[in-house]
Amino acid sequence: MCGIVGYVGMRNAPDVLLEGLKRLEYRGYDSAGLAVKSDGRLEVIKEVGKVADLARLVEERQLEGCQGIGHTRWATHGGVSVDNAHPHCDDCGNFVLVHNGIIENYLDLREELEAAGVTFTSETDTEVIVQLLARLYQKDMLDALVKLTEKLRGSYALAIMNREIDGTFYCLRKGSPLILGIGDGEGFCASDVPALLPYTRQVVYLEEGEIAAVSRDGIQVWASDGQRVEKSISTIDWEVSMTEKAAYPHYMLKEIHEQGAVLRTTLKGRVENGKVDLSPELAWDKKLVESWRKLHIVACGTSYYAALVAERVLEKWTDLEVKVDIASEYRYRHLRADTETLAVFVSQSGETADTLAACRLARSQGAHCLAVTNVRGSTLAREVHDVLLLKAGPEIGVAATKTFMGQIAALYLFALYLGRMRETLSAAEGNRLLEEMLRLPYKVEVTLEREDSVRALAEKYADRKDFLFLGRGMSFPVALEGALKLKEISYVHAEAYAAGEMKHGPIALLEAAVPVMVIIPRDGLYEKTLSNIQEAKARKAPILAVATDGDELISRHANDVLRVPWTDEEMTPFLTVVPLQLFAYHMARLRECEIDQPRNLAKSVTVE
Ligand code: G6P
Repeated sequence: MCGIVGYVGMRNAPDVLLEGLKRLEYRGYDSAGLAVKSDGRLEVIKEVGKVADLARLVEERQLEGCQGIGHTRWATHGGVSVDNAHPHCDDCGNFVLVHNGIIENYLDLREELEAAGVTFTSETDTEVIVQLLARLYQKDMLDALVKLTEKLRGSYALAIMNREIDGTFYCLRKGSPLILGIGDGEGFCASDVPALLPYTRQVVYLEEGEIAAVSRDGIQVWASDGQRVEKSISTIDWEVSMTEKAAYPHYMLKEIHEQGAVLRTTLKGRVENGKVDLSPELAWDKKLVESWRKLHIVACGTSYYAALVAERVLEKWTDLEVKVDIASEYRYRHLRADTETLAVFVSQSGETADTLAACRLARSQGAHCLAVTNVRGSTLAREVHDVLLLKAGPEIGVAATKTFMGQIAALYLFALYLGRMRETLSAAEGNRLLEEMLRLPYKVEVTLEREDSVRALAEKYADRKDFLFLGRGMSFPVALEGALKLKEISYVHAEAYAAGEMKHGPIALLEAAVPVMVIIPRDGLYEKTLSNIQEAKARKAPILAVATDGDELISRHANDVLRVPWTDEEMTPFLTVVPLQLFAYHMARLRECEIDQPRNLAKSVTVE
């Protein structure tokens, strides 16, 4: 949540900050602001709305300077208003800062400060930080920042400027991501890689509690106690072109259409001589792999649904006791990971606060922790024993699509690898499944070519207010994901149920106005799902089916059918999810919704 960017160098800072904020807008977009240092003055501009609204204001005011910080907000403490937008200043105008995270003890600190005569101008937890910093500062910035970290409880990524200090801005990081960028005679900070890509690919990842000073000459980093820390520089392997929309009207549509390529990249280099080989990434010996009895998979949102898909193959291809949970639940349950547990954390961003907390818990209980993430160097990636990268490239649309595809692909490779290592999956079956996986990129592309039929279906149902999504077995998590996509971007109410559960409640909602989207590929549960279709039809609900090519029977029972190519039962989610993503996209487009930045959502949820 909340995007942060900072710059110092020779360029015009407002231009760099606005470009960075545009690239971070998926983190939050209810208000935005920036502060620029010029001629010893700190100039602050804030605006409610999108970064484009802020850009207009910056142009009007002709703001210039070579050093600044910027922010795009997703409101937590305090409503959406110019006063609550960042940057925030202390009451004497000596310090200015932007913040991502939540200060848990802000009410106590605010009371103390108010008792000392400080007047607040916003309702945010952030203003407390800057007012406190101004009181702690005794002409030594490092000393003040060390004292500040001692006083703050909660999570924060901060970029700070001091009116007295030219050519340097300061950063702090605890529980919220912050990356420093190194250019030629210039320095940057950002909460996410895409903001830095147009300028540099040389980065330094700040660790928990670290404090940094960024100047034209480079970067200095200290631990939270003020001890100097030597940092290594990493090179980002994403290209700036990966973050552009190309000829597509929306990032989401571009990302949906990239899914065949995502599958190819995920498979590339991980299949050798007809076998899955993850040994370069997961240096596990047989003894370690055989020491596990339990497998916990933990995630949020779409990543959780990807985990539910994987659960079904992991329990089939391995003998592990598999348990999948939502991170915000897992962290407060008593599931008990132990040294016989492999705990897998699935997160596109690698920054989701609940997933990180769940990971820390499982690790403290002795579990071997694996991250399945799209972001190299993310907090999650740095806190686990092993990482399996998605290689989906940057995803900008707030609604996850191609990373869902990348997640299930990576988790399937992992399941095949584990099944073979534990000898619970025969070589013949493993080879057969892998051969079908290798055909999936093509089959996904065939499915994408049928977009027109999905658009036509959306046109027919665009005015409906409620949908029910049904699926069984492998198709149940797909139904959940399809309903989530529809809710997220078109604001149409959609519920997903395991088809067999429909009779236990949701059937009461059915009538002619409520379409039922049934995911019914040709699989072992086909006839069971067909019976559920009859039950829904008997209540006059229109039936929309996602079904397999050549299945003629379904045309007699459903009002409308979207087709996918045939594949093995286990592989059906790779194909059946595609028409559902496209359906949500076209529904949202017809309903004139903001597709890439749906209301109230943020791409990475870095607060609990
Ligand atoms: C947010 C995003 C979702 C995402 C979820 C988990 O809610 O809007 O698209 O699935 O967070 O994010 P992660 O980065 O952990 O996969």
